[in-house]
Amino acid sequence: MRVLITGAKGQLGTDLLDAFGGRLPAAGSAVFAGDHLVSTHEVLGCDLEDFSLTDANATMEFVTSYRPDLIIHGAAYTAVDRAESEPDLAMAVNRDGTANVVAAARAVDAKVLAISTDYVFDGSGTRPYLPSDEPNPISVYGSTKLAGELACGEETTIVRTSWVAGFHGANIVKTILRLASDGTAMTFVDDQFGCPTLAADLAVALVRLAERPPGGILHATNFGPTTWFELARRVVTTAGFDPDLVTPIATADRLPAPPASRPMYSVLDGDALLAAGVGPLPKWEDSLDRLVRLLVA
Ligand SMILES: NC(=O)c1ccc[n+]([C@@H]2O[C@H](COP(=O)([O-])OP(=O)(O)OC[C@H]3O[C@@H](n4cnc5c(N)ncnc54)[C@H](OP(=O)(O)O)[C@@H]3O)[C@@H](O)[C@H]2O)c1
Repeated sequence: MRVLITGAKGQLGTDLLDAFGGRLPAAGSAVFAGDHLVSTHEVLGCDLEDFSLTDANATMEFVTSYRPDLIIHGAAYTAVDRAESEPDLAMAVNRDGTANVVAAARAVDAKVLAISTDYVFDGSGTRPYLPSDEPNPISVYGSTKLAGELACGEETTIVRTSWVAGFHGANIVKTILRLASDGTAMTFVDDQFGCPTLAADLAVALVRLAERPPGGILHATNFGPTTWFELARRVVTTAGFDPDLVTPIATADRLPAPPASRPMYSVLDGDALLAAGVGPLPKWEDSLDRLVRLLVA
């Protein structure tokens, strides 16, 4: 297949370029990847420095000149807190940009896998969210990503993921390692529950998913829920720093509160992905350990 990856310079996009190019992405599990990473795809990436997906004409021109069979739409406005003060830009990228990608894909009859987020849910759930559960975002970012989902046609496969960290780009794991190496004490909330996801594992899962018929919503995360506190403490411990650098705090006690509200519970149910023949993704602890070891090596 000819595969186009939007957001190719982002943390997921970089790993997607590797995975669709037949290479194991950094910190990825060779066991999970199995023999799925074969170099039978021709891959091209694009990002904001090439053109903005908010420009419908530029998007159409780029897609119709490359004529992909598959587009993995990973590009997004991802600054969750900043989105609260830039709602128009976030909406332009996450809703209109997605609509432009889908329209261009239709013009060349390409399949689309669009990446979305656990932040489409309000977090009031008490069991893992099913793809069919009613979204109810509580942040601008979540609202714009839901608007992006709604801009996808039925022929688009929507893959929701959560708490993504990878070897490339900026993420919380790198921030924790930097602070810990300075001996800086950190507090992390221990009452928000979700599933961490290693970008490399998600990229490999998407290679597998690309072989399936399109359509529907799927949830793809590493296996098992945790809290931000547990995640932070595992990063510090695995890297060999003092675990007591990280202490727990309740969301209500975070002062000042961050601009954007986060769901208190956004664990995603992965059974639909399993039914599609993909996964389970590795346990979050194993994937996080691999990432941390690579980052500190
Ligand atoms: N990170 C998470 O925890 C998380 C959780 C759930 C779902 N997701 C979803 O997973 C996907 C990948 O996330 P990520 O963490 O890899 O994001 P990322 O590192 O922020 O990468 C997103 C990429 O999209 C590009 N982009 C932004 N606006 C654009 C535009 N108008 N036109 C073209 N490209 C544009 C960005 O370029 P610039 O850097 O130059 O702006 C960036 O390279 C996104 O759809 C995100 O919503 C992420």
